[in-house]
Amino acid sequence: MTICTAKNYDHMSQIAANILAAQIVLKPNSCLGLATGGSPIGTYKRLIEKHKNGDLDFGEVKTLNLDEYCGLSKDNDQSYDYFMRDNLFNHVNINFDNVNIPNGLEADAEKECRRYNEIMAQNGPIDIQLLGIGTNGHIGFNEPSDYFTLKTNHVSLTQATIEANMRYFEKADDVPKTAYTMGIGQIMNAKKVLLIASGESKADIMFRALYGPVTPQVPASILQMHSNLIVIGDEAALMRVSK
Ligand code: F6R
Repeated sequence: MTICTAKNYDHMSQIAANILAAQIVLKPNSCLGLATGGSPIGTYKRLIEKHKNGDLDFGEVKTLNLDEYCGLSKDNDQSYDYFMRDNLFNHVNINFDNVNIPNGLEADAEKECRRYNEIMAQNGPIDIQLLGIGTNGHIGFNEPSDYFTLKTNHVSLTQATIEANMRYFEKADDVPKTAYTMGIGQIMNAKKVLLIASGESKADIMFRALYGPVTPQVPASILQMHSNLIVIGDEAALMRVSK
């Protein structure tokens, strides 16, 4: 595990973007595993800048997103599909045929999980997986549980996650209660994992995830077993880790 302490969110984003950009430069048809949420927005901004400067070509890049809320259409500005277009895809030269996100409007969960597993098998292995972390240790939407999930699954979001994500919605009732997420096994199959975290609210979970027992009750703790894990956190998020 490589741990890199950034000065602040911007610095964290700069380092993460540099690592992702290097991956694309070295392998133009890289398969990127991508995340949504507040953590990667700055990273995506930096990647867009690099593209606009002529330094980064997304023409052959393939992407597999971690997760999607159930019940939201792609046009809903809270869907992860919308998020990805708004924060990255619409601003770079990615081929939309190479973009993959679970379909939150598919009501048949078994069918959608099977479809996404097949897409992952066809496009993988993921060369680099970008991850944020929930304050309860979730990665993707794999919530604390009695077991680690292997493949794409349909999950009920915990109250903690619903509350954490409420900030993006008008009212609590609008937050979807279920989602599709890549499984932990699929995340662990990525050749490289890039975990980013910022802010004091992530300090405890970063400590538990990186140095606590490996348990499905803290899903991110499995990352300790990954042979190529890079952690980039700002000083606040890493204050317990680097002490
Ligand atoms: C998002 C995702 C989630 C987030 C996590 C942290 O695609 O998979 O696991 O990474 O909820 O969210 P932020 O970055 O908003 O703190």
